[in-house]
Amino acid sequence: MYDLIVIGAGPGGYEAAAHAGQMGKKVALVERERLGGTCLNVGCIPAKTFLKSARLFADCRHAARYGVQVSEVRFDLAAVVDRKNRLVGALARGVEGLLKRSRVEVITGHARLTSRNTIQAGAHSYTARNILIATGSRPAVPPIPGISSGRVLDSTSVLNLTQLPDTVAIIGAGYIGLEFAGFFSAVGTKVTVLEALPQIASGTDSDISSRLLQALQRAGVEFHTSCKVTAIDDNTLHCEDSAGGTMSLSAACILNAAGRVPVLESLGLEQVGVDFDARGIKTSNQGKTNIPGLWACGDVTGRRLLAHAATREGIVAVNNMFGRKDSIRYDAIPSVIYTHPEVASVGKTEEELKAQGIGYRRALVPMTVAGRFLIENEGESGLVKVLAGARHGEILGVHALGDLSSEFIVAAVAMIEMEMCAAEAGELVFPHPTVAEALKQAIQQVMSSAA
Ligand code: NAI
Repeated sequence: MYDLIVIGAGPGGYEAAAHAGQMGKKVALVERERLGGTCLNVGCIPAKTFLKSARLFADCRHAARYGVQVSEVRFDLAAVVDRKNRLVGALARGVEGLLKRSRVEVITGHARLTSRNTIQAGAHSYTARNILIATGSRPAVPPIPGISSGRVLDSTSVLNLTQLPDTVAIIGAGYIGLEFAGFFSAVGTKVTVLEALPQIASGTDSDISSRLLQALQRAGVEFHTSCKVTAIDDNTLHCEDSAGGTMSLSAACILNAAGRVPVLESLGLEQVGVDFDARGIKTSNQGKTNIPGLWACGDVTGRRLLAHAATREGIVAVNNMFGRKDSIRYDAIPSVIYTHPEVASVGKTEEELKAQGIGYRRALVPMTVAGRFLIENEGESGLVKVLAGARHGEILGVHALGDLSSEFIVAAVAMIEMEMCAAEAGELVFPHPTVAEALKQAIQQVMSSAA
């Protein structure tokens, strides 16, 4: 009898298992593929190594802006893939070490619930007081005729490209589509992005997403928004706009980045009576499902498809199952799009505040007020937007566009989590010179703006 069995070893599952192990609980973690899940093996980590190499390549080509002459630059995709594999291997060994130190038993195989406290994995059956489902998500395949022909790449198979294509068409301008648009355009591939919605990076504050669109267009990416891909025919995509107009476009490579869906199949969910739909397993803010003793965290819940959200959800579930009251606060979960320029956000967007009828004040400060931003980003621009409560100035949202914002958004996370007002947050000492000083200025300005 285990205290906890975790199904799935992504950042939701393995961190939760380690946390419970460190609490002295008897824990097993079942994984059918590799430790680390999507994020480590085919998601965040590999994608970011690709982006780093592409950025270095682009920086070398533009080094003259910084007074550095570089005569020959070549992008070596095979070496980039080797480096990616080396880093993924090192981090996977780190996960293995963490689980060992936390005395978590790792079981290899596909787990299926046979009752609310029993699973079957391979030929064996295991029983636990609690089961945490953390099976993650996989790329969605939208119902587009021709999409399954084998020619269309997704966010997993694109990492196995052996040659850079001359042209790429990307379906979807969400996080994955935008990050790969940035990658391909930085290495010299002609990129076209097709997005069904009127806005790219939907859900992002619109002041930020509209400027991101402009920045990526300046970098040479072609966007078609309000443009839905309706069929794929070899290397040709057929699309329809919101007025019913049609267009076709061909590309050497097509990437499907039209979202992700939860991994729910063959888990025995129906048999045990777990409440779920196509978006995922329904959970409370404590990670509970409708079945006592059964918990879920991460992408399989369809709530926030982000690795760090999965980790927090898993820790919250473990705390609650072992008697420590804890609850996740989704407003304080940050998100980052690793484009160039980066987007980093936390809290409510201006559109959400308007829709929810919450009174607010706002400050918009160009990143160029920070000396460090000018030093690091020759000829570029960026923006920090702070939204604060109209009366008391509590920080409600921070949205930034500009490189290094992924590194300072955590300051805004702390402000929201600690329920700080702009007056208090504005007194914090920010190191100089840092890009984060643009955030400080926006916080200091926000209460002098009109409500
Ligand atoms: P997404 O759901 O963010 O975006 C998919 C986009 O595809 C949507 O805007 C949708 O309107 C569009 N689309 C769907 N069908 C279409 C069609 N037929 N024609 C044209 N456009 C179409 O999904 P994405 O980018 O695949 O990412 C999946 C998840 O992974 C996201 O929830 C994201 O949070 C997470 N992720 C996070 C990253 C990060 O934190 N930096 C990086 C990559 C992914």
